[in-house]
Amino acid sequence: MKNAEQIAFWNGDVGATWVAHNALMEAMLAPLGERVMDTLALSADTRALDVGCGCGQPSLSLARRIGPDGAVTGIDISAPMLALARSLANQESVDSAPVQFLEADAQIYAFEPDSFDVVFSRFGVMFFEDPVAAFTNIRGAMSSQAKLAFCCWQPRARNPFMTVPAVAALELLPTPAEVPPRLPGPFAFEEPDYIEAILSSSGFSNIAVEAISHPLVFGPGLSVEEIVERLVTIGPIAQMVREAPDSLQQPVREKVVAAVSPFYDPVTGLTLDGEFWQVTASR
Ligand SMILES: C[S@@+](CC[C@H](N)C(=O)[O-])C[C@H]1O[C@@H](n2cnc3c(N)ncnc32)[C@H](O)[C@@H]1O
Repeated sequence: MKNAEQIAFWNGDVGATWVAHNALMEAMLAPLGERVMDTLALSADTRALDVGCGCGQPSLSLARRIGPDGAVTGIDISAPMLALARSLANQESVDSAPVQFLEADAQIYAFEPDSFDVVFSRFGVMFFEDPVAAFTNIRGAMSSQAKLAFCCWQPRARNPFMTVPAVAALELLPTPAEVPPRLPGPFAFEEPDYIEAILSSSGFSNIAVEAISHPLVFGPGLSVEEIVERLVTIGPIAQMVREAPDSLQQPVREKVVAAVSPFYDPVTGLTLDGEFWQVTASR
């Protein structure tokens, strides 16, 4: 099966954790997603596709922006995340475009040709085993004038949200094995030239990869200890802390609390800068 590893990954503990912490993740990611969505010219009859839609909020936001005469499809491989997406969609008002969620792999799903006028993704396109096959497949579903817009991470090292907790945890934990570049995962698209090459090999034109900075605000209203508990559950150090021995669990948390405290405010929570690529293209 194509993307079998990612399908297992997003249907296992990771998908369940994203569902459990949906409100926290959504609050952090929504402003950036909305900013990227602003690049798309949506009209009342737009048919939109949200790739790797996860728990569905970006699809629902597209639906609200478009209104009842358009249509939105969210596609994702994670059954638990889609279950939440469907239940959130049921609470939407009639003023939104109808939304359908598909549990399918966007790399190979047999989309109807000419069925979308815009394709959007918030961090949902960096996990394909074969990105050119995936973007070629997605492009085949787009109408002749259709636009693509997505955001993805710049390198981990440029993102304090990743590095501040990790540097602290690594004072006590072994450095994880280096992940080879371009492997499916959050940083697969860290190189702008690589993104451009994938999209142009997939047939896209007018490709623009723009660096954007956007603060990541994590855990408003939580104590710094509660925030660190979330960071070790769903954040950038989750895996290394999960694999650490019991004896280091508390000491690592203490190191991370000390490291993130300068970026913490009791009202707004943790605010760390984020560096992303905003990618736009025409079919
Ligand atoms: C980092 S999450 C982002 C989720 C959502 N877009 C958000 O911003 O909250 C990445 C999502 O991509 C989905 N995904 C990964 N590979 C996929 C594929 N081949 N087809 C469709 N969705 C995929 C995952 O299941 C996951 O929901």
